[in-house]
Amino acid sequence: MAEPAVREFDRDVVVIGGCGHVGLPLAIAFADRGARVVIHDVSEPAVAAVNAGQLPFDEPGAAPLFARAVAAGRLSASADPAVVGAAEHVVVVIGTPVDEHLNPDQTAIPKALGGCAPFLRDGQLLILRSTVFPGVTALVEKMVAGLGVDVPVAFCPERIAEGKAMTELFTLPQIVSARAPQAAKRAAALFGLLTDQTVELIPEEAELAKLFTNTWRYIKFAAANSFYMMANDRGLDFERIREGLSRDYPRAADMPGAGFAAGPCLFKDTMQLAALSNNNFALGHTAMTVNEGLPLYLVSRLEQRFDLAALTVGILGMAFKGGSDDTRSSLAYKLKRVLEFKAARVLCADPFVTCDVRLLPQEQVTAQADLLIIAAPHPQYRDLATSKPVADIWNVLGQGVRV
Ligand SMILES: NC(=O)c1ccc[n+]([C@@H]2O[C@H](COP(=O)([O-])OP(=O)(O)OC[C@H]3O[C@@H](n4cnc5c(N)ncnc54)[C@H](O)[C@@H]3O)[C@@H](O)[C@H]2O)c1
Repeated sequence: MAEPAVREFDRDVVVIGGCGHVGLPLAIAFADRGARVVIHDVSEPAVAAVNAGQLPFDEPGAAPLFARAVAAGRLSASADPAVVGAAEHVVVVIGTPVDEHLNPDQTAIPKALGGCAPFLRDGQLLILRSTVFPGVTALVEKMVAGLGVDVPVAFCPERIAEGKAMTELFTLPQIVSARAPQAAKRAAALFGLLTDQTVELIPEEAELAKLFTNTWRYIKFAAANSFYMMANDRGLDFERIREGLSRDYPRAADMPGAGFAAGPCLFKDTMQLAALSNNNFALGHTAMTVNEGLPLYLVSRLEQRFDLAALTVGILGMAFKGGSDDTRSSLAYKLKRVLEFKAARVLCADPFVTCDVRLLPQEQVTAQADLLIIAAPHPQYRDLATSKPVADIWNVLGQGVRV
């Protein structure tokens, strides 16, 4: 394949879905390293926010790099798919959720690309960055081949954790995969702007590598949550046991603490892997029942100690994880729903979340609640001073996790 005529492109990178939680940090990182980046996103409010120099969500460390990139004219956004034709590298980072019956949508990426297809042109490199159902890269290769353009496809999965994007994008090794060696080389060169280390796999290996990574993490959280419930049922503090067993014992150093394991990725990627195995993935499904069952367990334990029907319960932390404003698939909301059925009143607060008008100031919740539950381990709660009972499965307060 001939080298692309780079001078023909006004931009180095277009990020499709680039106003999202993964796409925007990536676009900012490329722009910070000198690339000329344009975002294409169907969310007009998010596009307007980016062009006005406002981050549509909180990502620690992103603001100064973002402001610099926008001011330098290296980063802009558009809801018009025509911008896809302007860049040499076309990176796709749209969401790939499972549906309400836990089915992956293998057509999500081809459908999103459908609107951009008329603007793909010879010399571009199409890079899938979303977490995809295995086989989607091959499907997209087929789709692009049908367009009659010379645009090779690469799959380079995103592996950052939300909240750490602006450090991890510059430090994690980048997995790079493509059928054609020249395409893999071009993808490696692009991600080489961010980091020194690239790892080359074939697309089918890379698709599984990403799903295995998230599922591995989800299963580890489920194991810890199971251990927590076993210990707790015996009146024992799992954190004391975990601290004891892992002290100067490296083989157990990676055992996580208990906590709500949720959010937009781990659960759905475990379900993608289950669907790939014709639903014969007992370990993955068990991890789901354990992790999704933790809020139910917590409420049933609290019911044994308190007359919930007579109490106002305060939930602190509605985001899916500590330090985040992201409520997607947060188990704090499942906890809220269950408690609304059992308790006299449920009041919720979160110092980061801005998308839920029902949230109250923390002082009001702590003042009016009879019982508090920390549902997301925000660092602010370390200094929580209250005489009310607090259920703290995360050990944020450092007083143990027994409930
Ligand atoms: N969130 C994470 O921490 C994380 C980490 C690693 C990988 N991933 C993967 O990255 C992908 C994106 O996740 P996310 O959390 O950023 O999702 P998101 O919902 O925050 O962002 C997706 C963006 O794509 C836009 N979009 C949707 N359809 C589009 C279309 N047809 N054309 C253009 N734009 C479109 C949306 O408006 C949104 O801004 C998923 O596959 C996810 O599994 C996420």
